[in-house]
Amino acid sequence: MANKNFFIKTYGCQMNVNDSEKMAGILIREGYISVEDEKNADIVIVNTCSVREKAKEKLFSFLGKLNAIKKKREMKIVVTGCVSQLLKDEIRKRAPYVDIILGTNSYFKIKEAIQKQNYSDFQFYKQWIEIPFEPILRRNNFSAYVSIMEGCDSFCTYCVVPFSRGREKFRPSSSILKEIRFLEEQGFKEVQLLGQNVDSYRDPETGMDLASLLEKVAKTSSIPWIRFLTSHPVKFSIRIAEVMARYNQVLNSIHLPFQAGSNKILKLMNRGYTIEQYLKIIKKIKEIVPSIAISTDIIVGFPGETDEDFERTVEVLKEVEFENMFSFKYSPRPGTKAYYFEDDVPDKVKTERLIYLQNLQKDIQLKNNLKKIGKILRALTETVNKKNSDETVGRIESGRIVNIKGGKVGEFYDVLIEDAGPHNLKGSIWEGGFE
Ligand code: 5AD
Ligand code: SF4
Repeated sequence: MANKNFFIKTYGCQMNVNDSEKMAGILIREGYISVEDEKNADIVIVNTCSVREKAKEKLFSFLGKLNAIKKKREMKIVVTGCVSQLLKDEIRKRAPYVDIILGTNSYFKIKEAIQKQNYSDFQFYKQWIEIPFEPILRRNNFSAYVSIMEGCDSFCTYCVVPFSRGREKFRPSSSILKEIRFLEEQGFKEVQLLGQNVDSYRDPETGMDLASLLEKVAKTSSIPWIRFLTSHPVKFSIRIAEVMARYNQVLNSIHLPFQAGSNKILKLMNRGYTIEQYLKIIKKIKEIVPSIAISTDIIVGFPGETDEDFERTVEVLKEVEFENMFSFKYSPRPGTKAYYFEDDVPDKVKTERLIYLQNLQKDIQLKNNLKKIGKILRALTETVNKKNSDETVGRIESGRIVNIKGGKVGEFYDVLIEDAGPHNLKGSIWEGGFE
């Protein structure tokens, strides 16, 4: 069959990347061929994100580019993911040349969909839909995403996820463990368990929670590195920290967004905790796992956020000293509760707050990274350095990037840290052994 080259453009989070890997796997099993960019593709699948307004605008500009190609030659354009789910009408109106629109719960129908002329499917499922994992086309052959749940029931007032991905659906632990066993046999070195709200996890078959699942994975598999994200302070169980402390395979790293430091703003966001409760959790985790690396997400300029409210966020950043921080300007999302709040913080102020946080965090990271000089830390290499092909780029347990002289991609190395900047470390492979 002709016209079998496909290209997938992915926006957004790791869940989206994982869905794209699954779609690619399904198509490859059917004899389709994956190509590197849209220029050589007969079928272009755009897997979209709608968490922030910017992501949507990027999508429409990419679709415009595809349309220009489509005017010159045959091309099937497919849009999947969160924007499809939420804004199908806008896509139809602004990009009528799109052939197929699939919602977040129906990406696994990609093969049937592209065999049709025009197709759309936005069905939501209440339960987990298991698709065969063997054909998943992974990003690489050493670090794998494994989804364990999908959707969210938390309804933070600013967030579209509960609408775009639907309610929480949990994957049976038996299939999670089967996929991990398969990855182990394939020689994978790292597994990242994924979900929008992983701490809500409850095995539909046994009722097992995330802490027990992590323990089971650590006990039954020899995968050296196990990570998980994203956590939620309300659902977080301190047993997770205990499992981290007990099993070396479960890395001492957690992504625990606090979003805002002011209780007034947290309430308006419907986060379900006070900042004192958040800090108490952090304190407990640090007691159990002293070397824990905590990363976080923050939104600045949420409706009603005053300078004093923002100052609370600054204080939390100074107090916790996060390993990493992802900060965003609040962006009103249609369909959410906060969309009806007055977006009263001027964009200029949002930008100033964002830059302030980023500079502060940069100083904190630099200070803490400099302390790592002289230490020998294990890293898993992920790529060759684009700027210097004599170097590989890896990650240490905390998630921090390290540039390494020499080395091969996809390997563990003990690295002597020789230099540090705010965002990465530099080092060379340590071959001296440990005293
Ligand atoms: N505006 C800005 N940031 C948002 N996030 C989610 N929704 C919005 C929004 N409407 C951020 C949160 C979340 C991260 C994935 O994206 O910080 O943790
Ligand atoms: Fe969105 Fe809140 Fe759910 Fe995270 S917990 S996905 S921010 S609704």
